[in-house]
Amino acid sequence: MRKVTELDKNWIFVKGVKGIAEARVAEGVLVSLPHTWNAADGQDGGNDYYRGTCWYRLALQRPELKDGERAYLEFDGAAMTADVYLNGEKLAHHEGGYSRFRVDITEKLIETGNELMVAVDNSDNSRVYPQKADFTFYGGLYRMVRLVIVPKAHFSMDYYGGNGIKVTPVVTLAENGEETASAVVTVEIWAEGSAEYVTVTVADETKQAAVTDGYAKVEFHLEAVHLWDGVEDPYLYTARAELESGDAVEVRFGCRSFRIDPQEGFFLNGRSYPLRGVSRHQDRKGAGNALTPAMHQEDMDIVKEIGANTLRLAHYQHAQEFYDLCDENGIIVWAEIPYITMHMNGGKENTLSQMRELIIQNYNHPSIICWGLSNEITAASAVNEELLENHRELNDLCHELDKTRKTVMADVFMLEIDSPMLEIPDINSYNLYFGWYLGEMKQTDEFFDEYHSAYPERCIGFSEYGADANPAYHSAKPDRGDYTEEYQCIYHEHMLRMIEERPWLWATHVWNLFDFAADGRDEGGKHGENQKGLVTIDRKTKKDAFYLYKAYWSRENFIHICGRRYVDRTEEVTKIKVYSNQPSVALYVDGIFVEEQKGSRVFEFEIPISGSHKVAAQAGEYRDEIIVKKADEINKEYLFVKEGDIVNWFDKEDFHEDCYSVGDTLGEIAKSPEANAIVQKLTAKATASRGDVAESVKDNPALQRMMQRMTLQSMLKQAGDVIKPEEIKALNDALQRIKKVTD
Ligand code: GCU
Repeated sequence: MRKVTELDKNWIFVKGVKGIAEARVAEGVLVSLPHTWNAADGQDGGNDYYRGTCWYRLALQRPELKDGERAYLEFDGAAMTADVYLNGEKLAHHEGGYSRFRVDITEKLIETGNELMVAVDNSDNSRVYPQKADFTFYGGLYRMVRLVIVPKAHFSMDYYGGNGIKVTPVVTLAENGEETASAVVTVEIWAEGSAEYVTVTVADETKQAAVTDGYAKVEFHLEAVHLWDGVEDPYLYTARAELESGDAVEVRFGCRSFRIDPQEGFFLNGRSYPLRGVSRHQDRKGAGNALTPAMHQEDMDIVKEIGANTLRLAHYQHAQEFYDLCDENGIIVWAEIPYITMHMNGGKENTLSQMRELIIQNYNHPSIICWGLSNEITAASAVNEELLENHRELNDLCHELDKTRKTVMADVFMLEIDSPMLEIPDINSYNLYFGWYLGEMKQTDEFFDEYHSAYPERCIGFSEYGADANPAYHSAKPDRGDYTEEYQCIYHEHMLRMIEERPWLWATHVWNLFDFAADGRDEGGKHGENQKGLVTIDRKTKKDAFYLYKAYWSRENFIHICGRRYVDRTEEVTKIKVYSNQPSVALYVDGIFVEEQKGSRVFEFEIPISGSHKVAAQAGEYRDEIIVKKADEINKEYLFVKEGDIVNWFDKEDFHEDCYSVGDTLGEIAKSPEANAIVQKLTAKATASRGDVAESVKDNPALQRMMQRMTLQSMLKQAGDVIKPEEIKALNDALQRIKKVTD
């Protein structure tokens, strides 16, 4: 039997030394694993978190090795590259911060005083992904390290961090009323150290096979197979393989079949099963990415509460514990490598090695159905032959290593829909932020309809969409870019309606279930956070929009009144929004029945307010209540105000409707040469400030078409601080003096 010891304690962490000589004698600090050195500075904004080399030192007890046993160190995650030294000798170098790797130390152990040194580095470099992306690149031994002793004849420990067993179930679904589905389960094993035969057990059946050249294959036929059926019934079998040496490995697997239809979307085990879910980054307030099993479990509990049936585990290989939780809970997973935002000429090898490790280490998870090749890789890189070739090689590698899953790519909104990039993966998905970063929400609908009618034979999904919301910010007139919970709700209500009207979207993933650390950000009243989450980064606050999704997806009966954090309200009549999966909702104010509405998911009421009121919503036994208070002044704490912002000057009701304004689209304004001339001058300044945008607009007809549909105000907001608010106001005043051209 193999012996596994977690090396979680008594590590000395050393920062700020030059090399191993200093690192061996430096005082350092005592730490336990999992550990990251960016737990604090990686989450406080300023993009100044420590990126460099740090050292971990451990006094390693020499294990007793007998009969040819071998000793390995096993690292589950060393970000982003690691050099492993034992007793001063460098034994291994690994590039990639999210995958497991092992080091055979058998011959390098000395009788006493074994000193293990690990140099971990998260510096900027030009060959290891990720280097440019919207999340903090934490450094550290942020997952577990183990000492693994295996018998002389043992399951492979030297093949890209795999565990030497590969289980491939092929399901035949029951057809036309036949009793049940069946499955052929092929178990392949790889062994090192002269194993003779292997004994494999699946579903109480045991078979033996000779091991030839370190390889063996055994087949099992499960007649009335118990399917792994997503969130309905995530049934898992266990495959156990044992060598005559006593080394044994056990792996759980699930029998399921899936297909993706360009017109009808995703099918699981023969039935339509639209994938509707969220994305998740692996980090949390105060812990960085050094997550404990309890933290992983809590994240899964929240995924279950919202009722998602799929997760996009962005933008890298996640922890084994989390893929296991997805298997156990029936959550279908999009797994991916961090080939993201910007292509690096010297990075191809790293993309291939990260993909190889991702697939070899995660092949047996029934929850995973696709391998993501890249994310928005054309955001900062032109589509050229090198980029295409890197994707073709990745795509081929996936198909070589795994004949059972699809390859996919998350495309940035600017990628032309007729780009050759889209022809490489088996399926595609777009990240679209119309209604947040630019344009209007409805441009999302238009984009997908245009794509789907142009490419009806292609499977298309919605891999990212979202709007930032700070739970402290509120408004009675929510507007794009105000970071209010109320706008985030309006945004997601639109997107859910859009999705519901397009069942051919094979998967949709909200960006993001949780706020996460993006240390380069400093907006929306938070430092270093992307606040598109439906839940805050500390997991303590579920924003109102969380309950909108729960109303669409969850079977747990509930009722939720929005706006509990919007207490002080200046409006005489205020909107009360209720999310619920119940068919009708009754509203009470100060204990007095006001109104009952029959409806679906979103229930909107309006009530006059004059003092402090207890507002309650009831649906059968389910009840929620909040307090609202009439206020004379806007509570300044509800407002996200950037320095110099002219708050609320933009109030469409005051505009002369027969004249142009910043509320009109660029296409409408273009009809008037006089209005257009004024606008061109200012927008030239706006786009010139964003060379990359200007470049992409110039030679991108799709983007030009898109921009024609954008309101001038939206477009100018993209320019950020380049266009001062007073310039926008002056522009609007000028436009308001120009009568609209009537067709
Ligand atoms: C992109 C990107 C994400 C990023 C998101 C955002 O689509 O893929 O990593 O966080 O946009 O801007 O919020």
